[in-house]
Amino acid sequence: MVSSVDLRNYLDFAAQTAYEAGRLTLGYFRTGTMRPELKPDDTPVTDADREAEKLIRARIEARYPGHAVVGEEYGAEEGTDAGRRWIVDPIDGTKAFVRGIPFYGVLIGLEIEGRCEVGAAYFPALDEMICAATGQGCYCNGRRSKVAGTEALERGILSFTDATSFDEHGREEAFRRLLSAVGGSRGWSDAYGHALVATGRVELMLDPVMNPWDCAPFPPILREAGGYFGDWSGNETIYSGEALSTTTTLLPEVLRLIQG
Ligand code: IPD
Ligand code: CA
Ligand code: CA
Repeated sequence: MVSSVDLRNYLDFAAQTAYEAGRLTLGYFRTGTMRPELKPDDTPVTDADREAEKLIRARIEARYPGHAVVGEEYGAEEGTDAGRRWIVDPIDGTKAFVRGIPFYGVLIGLEIEGRCEVGAAYFPALDEMICAATGQGCYCNGRRSKVAGTEALERGILSFTDATSFDEHGREEAFRRLLSAVGGSRGWSDAYGHALVATGRVELMLDPVMNPWDCAPFPPILREAGGYFGDWSGNETIYSGEALSTTTTLLPEVLRLIQG
C-alpha cells in the first residue's frame, strides 16, 4: 500500500519535473536553431528532446535514486527499489515542436507495482499542466479538472493524431463508425488530445499507435477526472500499442461502436 502522503509527494515531484523540463524546451522552441535528426523509426528527435530527458533523469536520480526509469530517448534503467518505475517522454509531439506548433508536451508517469498511479502532462508553449495521482484528484493548472458531462456521443467531439494511421493499423472501420456517431471531429493531436478529454474540452481521443511513454501519465489523469484511458477494448493499460480516452458515461457506447 502506498500512502496518500507519498502519492502527493510523487505528484508534486512529477509536476515540478515536467514543468522544469518544459521550460527547458521553450529555450529551443521557435528559435530557428533546431536541427531535427531522424531516428531509425523515421521520427524526428532534437537536442531539446535529449536535454529535457537528461534533466528529468537527473532529478529522479537525485530524489529517488533507487527507482527504475524508462525514457524514450535513453532507454531503460533498472532500480533497486522494485515496484517504482518512472516512464518519461521528454517531448511528445516532436513533429509539432519542430514546426513551432504549441501542442507538444512533456509526459511523466509513475508506475507503482505495475500500475500507473501518478501522472503529469505539461504543455510548455500553452503553459498548461494537467496532473493527477490516485485518490488525489486531477488538476489543470491547480484547479480540479473533470471530463465533459456530455450524455450522448452525437453531441461529442472526437480528436485524433494522424487520419491515415487508422488504416495502417487495421482500425479504419472502427474509426469510420465512431466518426459517423459523433457530433464532429478535429485533429488535435498527440498527448494534447488526451489532455483535452481530461479537461472536458473534447469527449473522445483515439490513437492506434502508441508506446508506453506516450501513455504513462494518462491512466491516473483520466481516472481521476472521471474518465477512461486504455486500450480499445476497455482495459486500462499503457502496453497495448493503442490508446483511447473518453468519459465513463460514453465508454460503453464507444466500445460497442469499436466492436461493430
Ligand atoms: C508520438 C505521439 C503520437 C503517437 C506516435 C508517437 P513523439 O510521439 O505520441 O501521438 O501516435 O506513435 O510516436 O514521437 O512525438 O514523442
Ligand atoms: Ca510520444
Ligand atoms: Ca517523444
